[in-house]
Amino acid sequence: MNIAYLLKPKSKRRSEALKPTQSLPFGQIRTDHMLIVDYEDGQWQNARIIPYGPLSISPGATVLHYGQALFEGGKAFMHPDGEIYTFRIDKNAKRLNKSAEILCMPSIDENFQVEAIHALIDVDRLWFPIQEGASLYIRPFMFATEDSLGVHPSKSYKYIVILSPSGPYYPAGFTKPIRLLITKKFHRAVSGGTGESKAAGNYAASLRAGEFAKQFDASQVLYLDAQNKYIEEAGAMNHYHIEKDGTVVIPEFTDTILRSITSESIIELQTSLGLKVIQKKVLLDEFIEKIKNKEIIEAGGFGTAAVVSPVGEYVLEDNTILTVGDGSIGEYSKKIYTYYTGIQTGKIKAPYGWLK
Ligand code: COI
Repeated sequence: MNIAYLLKPKSKRRSEALKPTQSLPFGQIRTDHMLIVDYEDGQWQNARIIPYGPLSISPGATVLHYGQALFEGGKAFMHPDGEIYTFRIDKNAKRLNKSAEILCMPSIDENFQVEAIHALIDVDRLWFPIQEGASLYIRPFMFATEDSLGVHPSKSYKYIVILSPSGPYYPAGFTKPIRLLITKKFHRAVSGGTGESKAAGNYAASLRAGEFAKQFDASQVLYLDAQNKYIEEAGAMNHYHIEKDGTVVIPEFTDTILRSITSESIIELQTSLGLKVIQKKVLLDEFIEKIKNKEIIEAGGFGTAAVVSPVGEYVLEDNTILTVGDGSIGEYSKKIYTYYTGIQTGKIKAPYGWLK
């Protein structure tokens, strides 16, 4: 599919907020352009890059009533050679199609997605943030546009990509461990549902739990499975913990857990990291016991936005605090973070095909 370019007459250079002295929030700033493709009459068509701005959709659009929408999150990095490289966005493209399948939406050619994202980044390359540790966050999304109030999959869709020059997801970045709330009150997903997808509705459903977590001074909830037996994930990121012998444990992927590209990458990097990374079902009771008796020495989250976000403490609903190790960022988490971000930013050689 060809991409048409309808660009702003004069592309803005970096805004005030991108000045190197300014700290950069996550996801707040937009670049000048966006990419849009329409799905009509059974095919994707009319790919175009146009100035970033409001969309016009029908008030009866399926997405507004039944929430048929999904999204992805990827990143691009500036390397020492001055070039901008996307990181494993072919995996984002593939996962987008997996989500589309789960939500009865049409798939979109994965090579096209990668090409379209690069075309947009090329147009807005002057927006690349130059703050230390910043990246260009890539947000592809798709939603249903058919003006119809019947509960059925829409016949028309839009696939859109926007870009956001961004700092770390958690404002303190990798400098301060976060606190997670372990609660039996809210659940993110059930087997047979949409948990494995990046359905927008999964995130809408997580907002109440996120607000509840704030009452405990926690950044977010560590979700359990619907039987409250196993640890699942943390909504905006997968979960990991590290045992005394250095083994990194990520809960086994099921249809209730989103397959984080960061988790998958850490699993693939285990030999070069010199760490054993395994996936298994993690029993909540055992997890708590092992934190108490210091058999679990580190924990945290893996995610595109969150990167590696160490957890210093868990809080339970009765306000019991469980401190992981001594509550500070541990050596294994540091090693993973340094190696992983080293690959993303071109300081460490990436496996073949990871950077484009
Ligand atoms: C990402 O890591 O890109 C995500 O999708 C998390 C997002 C909800 C901020």
